[in-house]
Amino acid sequence: MIDLKNVVKIHQTGDEELIALKNISLHINEGEFTAIMGPSGSGKSTMMNILGLLDRFDEGDYILNGKNVTHLTSNESAHVRNKNLGFVFQSFNLMPRMTLLENVALPMVYAGVPAKERKERALEALTQVGLENRIKHRPNAISGGQKQRVAIARAIVNKPAVLMADEPTGNLDSKTTLEIMSIFQRLNREGTTVVMVTHEPDVAKYTKRIVSFKDGEIQDDQIIEKQKII
Ligand SMILES: Nc1ncnc2c1ncn2[C@@H]1O[C@H](COP(=O)(O)OP(=O)(O)OP(=O)(O)O)[C@@H](O)[C@H]1O
Ligand SMILES: [Mg+2]
Repeated sequence: MIDLKNVVKIHQTGDEELIALKNISLHINEGEFTAIMGPSGSGKSTMMNILGLLDRFDEGDYILNGKNVTHLTSNESAHVRNKNLGFVFQSFNLMPRMTLLENVALPMVYAGVPAKERKERALEALTQVGLENRIKHRPNAISGGQKQRVAIARAIVNKPAVLMADEPTGNLDSKTTLEIMSIFQRLNREGTTVVMVTHEPDVAKYTKRIVSFKDGEIQDDQIIEKQKII
């Protein structure tokens, strides 16, 4: 499903170069639920942005779903992303002037889905995260946990094979964090491959595999024998 081969990423600021990913090879199979862990600055977000086709890299290859996506144009990347991937951010990234239904329908506008179907599928996705009674609200009228559920609905509305999330529970309290992890576990049970960054070991134990980063390298990669189920 996901195959990174010898990926190197250099961040350039002014005339300073920082090697954020040194030589990353990572294979993730369909159906896995993987946590990416590691200290601040170890390269987790850099790698997630590459996995999500949101950023380019300097060396190596990325094979997604059997297709080499290393050298795509930004238009091609957007197309592959829209068809295969859903992305959830720590800061929700919702459109404040749009209703929840409109927020969730937005990726389908880009995908060219007709208006009626957009509405139906957005409602279905919001129902999956338990927000079918809030569809006319705007983001400022709901809680942080609800916002993240909207962001998840938006990420899954095109039925992506892989759901990616960078610290999705970073701004949430522990009860709301469990709600989000429960949704991820359900989506994973139903067949979605999930990759998420988290700082918290307590959150990672709800996944099935922990990949630990240090200084731009993978330091450890372990399968969790007993995934904690919510
Ligand atoms: N856009 C950028 N320009 C320059 N340097 C960057 C950029 N993004 C990240 N870096 C640097 O690359 C390294 C890896 O950063 P990254 O954001 O991937 O770490 P992280 O593991 O996600 O950290 P955190 O846990 O704080 O989110 C850091 O040294 C960071 O300062
Ligand atoms: Mg980060």
